This record gives sequence, structure tokens and C-alpha cells, in this order.
Amino acid sequence: MFKLDNRVAIVTGSGSKKGIGRTIALTLAKQGAIIVVADLNEEGIEDTVHAIKSEGGEAFGVLLNVTSQQSNDEMVQKILDKYGRIDILVNNAGISQKVSVEDMTIEDITKVFNVNMFGLFLCTQAVLETMKKQNFGRVISLSSVSAKRGGGVFGGAHYSASKAAVLGFSKNLAREVAQNGITVNCVAPGLVNTDIWKSLPEEQAAKVIDGIPMGRPGETEEVAAAIAFLASEEASYITGEEIDINGGSHMD
Ligand SMILES: NC(=O)c1ccc[n+]([C@@H]2O[C@H](COP(=O)([O-])OP(=O)(O)OC[C@H]3O[C@@H](n4cnc5c(N)ncnc54)[C@H](O)[C@@H]3O)[C@@H](O)[C@H]2O)c1
Repeated sequence: MFKLDNRVAIVTGSGSKKGIGRTIALTLAKQGAIIVVADLNEEGIEDTVHAIKSEGGEAFGVLLNVTSQQSNDEMVQKILDKYGRIDILVNNAGISQKVSVEDMTIEDITKVFNVNMFGLFLCTQAVLETMKKQNFGRVISLSSVSAKRGGGVFGGAHYSASKAAVLGFSKNLAREVAQNGITVNCVAPGLVNTDIWKSLPEEQAAKVIDGIPMGRPGETEEVAAAIAFLASEEASYITGEEIDINGGSHMD
């Protein structure tokens, strides 16, 4: 796969044991990147750091709340003090909630946007100055198939809207920083084989599978592989793009 030797990569939300973020962290570490494991979940951070180190990689755990500007700024300072650079940001931290628009409250939509969009903005903004100085950077954000086809399996309209906002934000930012050696891209996974998928009742799961031409959910490794590519030198002329990873369940 693509070499990322000594690149310093932040992966937000990489403290989730069975989540996509941990696999992204492990995959980038295998390609030689130094991983900043950033999450709200302290125990999860330790687990991911341990998993990376036990495979011979380098990892640094940082407690992060993406919704707090102070928390993002403190993380950036800690990384700069330790490594002196930030090459890759993977905006993976995200939350979702199944609720109809009729039943949705302003608190529900605010909570989802706070993490999925405003948190992503704060974290991205916090690394831009460093990436500009380096004249190198890769920002890769997790959108979702639900942004494009109007809903997935688990989220509500607020989740779809927040993930659509991530696409628009990323394209705009891609233009802003295109001449600073920084690329900005998204991946849009369909259903991924994480704990939440495993929790679906069999009958419901069968219905979902029916809508996926490949007849199975994606694996976290399949999402991480696309991110490793977008983070690499080889993807240097790709910006403002999104890669769909959904087994054919939505085709543009
Ligand atoms: N699982 C899927 O099928 C799927 C499909 C499409 C897109 N996605 C997206 O992929 C990303 C990862 O999904 P997942 O299923 O692995 O989720 P997950 O719930 O397993 O992991 C999310 C992680 O984000 C962290 N987090 C939440 N709020 C945070 C905050 N304020 N600050 C810092 N960290 C925070 C959590 O602690 C958790 O470790 C999300 O953005 C999600 O929307 C997931």
C-alpha cells in the first residue's frame, strides 16, 4: 500500500474499539505514519495506542472534544511540542441518532451538528496554519452515503444533513488551500460492519442487505484503505473529491 513514513496523522474518534477510526489509525500506522489517537474516550484512546504500539507503530494519545475550540487548540500545541508537524487530519469523530423529523428537537439537531460539522470545522481550522507553513497537508473527512441518498440505516435527517454539510465544507476548503500544498477530500461509506450493524435484528439486517448490490456491509479496512490512499503522496492531484465506499448501494 501507500507509504506514509514519518507523517504525523491525527485520527479523531479513533478510540472506539470496533469503530472505523481505530482501523484507520492502525492502517495509517502500518504505512509508517505516527498516529495521534484523539477521542473523548480515555480508555479507548489507551486501547488504540496499545494496539498500534504492539504492532510496532508509533502512537500518541490525546484526550479531545472536537466541539471545543480550546480542546482542539491544546491538542495541536501538544503535537507540535512533541513532533513539530501535522501532516494528516482524519475527521472521523461522529455521532448519529435515529429519530424522525417530526419527533426531532432543536437540541437533537444541534447535538449532531455540533460534533459532525462544527467540531470538524474547529479541528480542521486548528491544523490549517501548521499545514500551510509546511506547504503540505491532507484533510480527509468522513461523510456518509446518507448525505447523498437521503438517509442510511441508522441516522436521522439531521445526520444526513450534517454529513452533506461535510461535503460542501470540504469542497470549499479544498479551493481555499489548493495552492498551499493541502488537499481536502472526503470518503462516504455506506453501511459498515461495526457494532451498531451487528446489533440489528436479523430480519431488518436482511432487508438492508437486499439494498446493497454486493450483498454485504463494508469492512472498516475497506474504508481505511481509501483514506490511506488519499493521505499519500500518490494522491497529490486529488482535491475536493469524495470516494464512495458502499458496495454499490448508491452510485453517482
Ligand atoms: N458505521 C457506519 O456504518 C458508518 C457509515 C458511514 C459513515 N460513518 C461515519 O464514520 C465515522 C466513524 O463511525 P463509527 O461507526 O466508527 O462510530 P463510533 O461511534 O464507533 O466511533 C465514533 C468515535 O467518535 C468519538 N467521539 C464522539 N464525539 C466526539 C467528540 N465530541 N470529540 C471527540 N471524539 C468524539 C467517540 O468517542 C467514538 O470513539 C463517523 O463520522 C460516522 O458518521 C459510519
